[in-house]
Amino acid sequence: MTDTNYDFAEQRRSLTGDFHRPVYHFIAPASWMNDPNGVIHWGGKYHLFYQYHPESPRFGLAHWGHAISEDAIHWQDLQVALSPTPGGPDATGCWSGCVVEDDGVPTAVYTGVGPEGYGQQSQCIATSQDGLLSWEKYSGNPILSEIPAIANQSTDLRDPMIWREGDTWYMLLASRIKPLGGSVFLYRSLDLIGWEFLHPLLTGSYAKDGCVWECPCFFPLGDKWVLIVAGKGRRIPFTVFYFIGDYVDQQFRPESSGILDHAYFYAPFTMEDARGRRLLWGWLREGRSEEAHVAAGWAGCHSIPRELSLRNGQLHMAPVPELNRLRGSGTVISDIRLTGGEHNLEIRGAALDIEAEFNAEGTVGLAVACASDEGEETRVSYNPDNQLLSVNRERSSLDQENETFANEAPHELAPGESLQLRILLDGSVLEIIANGRTSICSRIYPSRADSQGLRLFGKGQVKTLSVWQMRSIWQQ
Ligand code: FRU
Repeated sequence: MTDTNYDFAEQRRSLTGDFHRPVYHFIAPASWMNDPNGVIHWGGKYHLFYQYHPESPRFGLAHWGHAISEDAIHWQDLQVALSPTPGGPDATGCWSGCVVEDDGVPTAVYTGVGPEGYGQQSQCIATSQDGLLSWEKYSGNPILSEIPAIANQSTDLRDPMIWREGDTWYMLLASRIKPLGGSVFLYRSLDLIGWEFLHPLLTGSYAKDGCVWECPCFFPLGDKWVLIVAGKGRRIPFTVFYFIGDYVDQQFRPESSGILDHAYFYAPFTMEDARGRRLLWGWLREGRSEEAHVAAGWAGCHSIPRELSLRNGQLHMAPVPELNRLRGSGTVISDIRLTGGEHNLEIRGAALDIEAEFNAEGTVGLAVACASDEGEETRVSYNPDNQLLSVNRERSSLDQENETFANEAPHELAPGESLQLRILLDGSVLEIIANGRTSICSRIYPSRADSQGLRLFGKGQVKTLSVWQMRSIWQQ
């Protein structure tokens, strides 16, 4: 814990009037945040840690922010869990990592960034004796700083993800192999302190999935194992990839792969909760200029946790059902014929949970965040001819400083399969999951507070459309 005690309630209050700020997604009290870290179920509660720069809305000196929840939806702020130690191996950042239970002791394993800056990454440990509130850093930190020769002079080695098999701990670290591409390295240990490098678990290709990988997640799901990595590089934007395959004798053999989200979802983190569910969180990046989010005083939030499963060998994602507890008044409409024009709905709102089922006969969709005079709108549509799901943001905001390019994802429907959209609109957040398997997390910044309308359009049948007003998770 830092010596600084922040008045988080006051910080949240001071930002309540900002209608771009989500109200039912996890977000830091103010300032900059990024990756989810170390989510663990402890003493009947979810503990969420996150990359946090408490003093500034810009990316910088990373701390571990901390929040707790009983249902993974309603969160309560706790004071900062980890902060950089001047002169120490984490002097310029406590970067991403995980928390494991070592013989009853919660143990955070994270990447420290040393006094020389981002090129000086090593792995550090801290333990807690008071139920995850305060943390003591291990005096022998860093526990691992050598980068395997196979990385060919890369300085990237970070984001430890750890699991246990029998008496042995295994760890994945994100890295790259120059010049091939992103890679995740597998290690093992008997005590969490001394680590032996085994081999790269998987290596990507520079042009396809990024020159460096970050935030690896690796876990059994159904009768397979899944590896999720965040890839970035000059040739691809920030993108999360997944691989499904078998894991035998410390070797992973992927059989299929895909893109987990096609827009702003990054830095995945998964955990198995007390009910045995595999839950996934991600950081939702901003889609506006640094100048704009600095002026707003905050940046970044997290996705709603998604439960993962395998269906027909494919990765399936669904927001946790606990989210439904936030649903207030709702409207259900069924069997609407769309003949090519626009169909305004009476429903309005900036914090909505929407479930829609379409039979598309041409391009069909739903426009959200629509101004009454059509001055602003964001169009979510599906074109059955090219099987493309897209979010058109050209007119999302009159303020053209925001990102306006379309977010698109190939989305194949089986013969006779209807299009099922789950849309979570929350201020500037637009999370879309189609048929449980195609995800687009977009960001929009309408300039007008009245841009809250909904409109159906296109050609086809809307089998059902259900819309719920969502309550804030912060005022209870
Ligand atoms: C991913 C990431 C991680 C790193 C952290 C720093 O977004 O770059 O690789 O640990 O953010 O905040």
